[in-house]
Amino acid sequence: QDKRESLYVLSSWAGKFFKEQMWTTEVGQSIGLSYFKERGYREDIVKKFELGYSPDQWTALSDAAAAAGFHKDYLSLIGLSIEREDGSLYDRFRGRVIFPIHNLTGRVIGFGGRTLKTEKSVPKYVNSPESDIYHKSDVLYGLNFAKKAIMDKDSCYLVEGYADVISMHQAGVENVVSSSGTSLTTGQIKLIGRFTQNVVILYDGDAAGIKASLRGTDMLLEEGLNVKVLLFPDGNDPDSYVQSFGSTAFKEYIDTNQQDFIFYKTNILLKDAGADPIKRAEVIREVVQSIALIPDEIKVSVFIKQCSALLDMEERVLLTELNKMRLNKA
Ligand code: CTP
Ligand code: MN
Ligand code: MN
Ligand code: MN
Ligand code: MN
Repeated sequence: QDKRESLYVLSSWAGKFFKEQMWTTEVGQSIGLSYFKERGYREDIVKKFELGYSPDQWTALSDAAAAAGFHKDYLSLIGLSIEREDGSLYDRFRGRVIFPIHNLTGRVIGFGGRTLKTEKSVPKYVNSPESDIYHKSDVLYGLNFAKKAIMDKDSCYLVEGYADVISMHQAGVENVVSSSGTSLTTGQIKLIGRFTQNVVILYDGDAAGIKASLRGTDMLLEEGLNVKVLLFPDGNDPDSYVQSFGSTAFKEYIDTNQQDFIFYKTNILLKDAGADPIKRAEVIREVVQSIALIPDEIKVSVFIKQCSALLDMEERVLLTELNKMRLNKA
């Protein structure tokens, strides 16, 4: 427990270091802060999310941490520094803008660092590794800022990225969390379930986002949550939509375009199936498969009714199929 407390203290110190680098150095301002401003982030939002900048040097943070009295073992344990063969340390985050990751109580537990380069060969994000205080699969980025709004609205928007959370806050939509990528986990879903039973998936409007939205839908249904989904047009994500079209247009878009999972999934699959009867049968099976995951029998029968109307198939047939699937799973 002492060790964990030390890691929290070090993380918090590093968060301050990255902020100071951005706000008080010339390079930090001209590269880091201007990056965020060019993305359209307001200063109050940059401050609220404690964004920062890591200098483009090998040992800036490692040296400053040593000077501040932190033991090098802790720097490696938490992944801020990486140890070389000879025992010396170098910084994990170099020349990147920094998104601190907070736990539920608002303590810093890790960082995401975004490159400023556009080359495809450079990884866009570098993230803190797993540590005693950061278990990625049990963390939702932004939850500490969102939990009150989620309870007030009794609904939670789920997005892919750091930038999506931040732009939505700036647009005045605060009940939003990020799964930090497309691989939503059961731990993250259980965390949402502590605050609301209603989730709206707002993943990126690209192939990866669509695929992940279908996978996420099934996982959320299985945990008993109610799921709506919304698809952004032309490769947009929530951040790019807010920044291109403005807050008002964004809010209108998400209000009018979110769909119950059953319509969303059916529409997406039907688009590919066209009129081919065998493919249509496959669509029906896939939709029933999602319904079969829902633990609440009343909801199941409501969705079977909807599915029957939507796909013009007798309820009795759908129910038979559903029961068969459940038997095969049991
Ligand atoms: N991600 C990551 N490592 C990567 C790419 C993505 O950890 N190499 C995570 C980040 O949390 C990122 C999220 O997945 O925010 C969504 O990825 P993507 O849509 O590619 O990035 P954006 O969040 O849209 O980033 P940006 O708008 O800054 O380009
Ligand atoms: Mn632990
Ligand atoms: Mn994406
Ligand atoms: Mn994105
Ligand atoms: Mn983006």
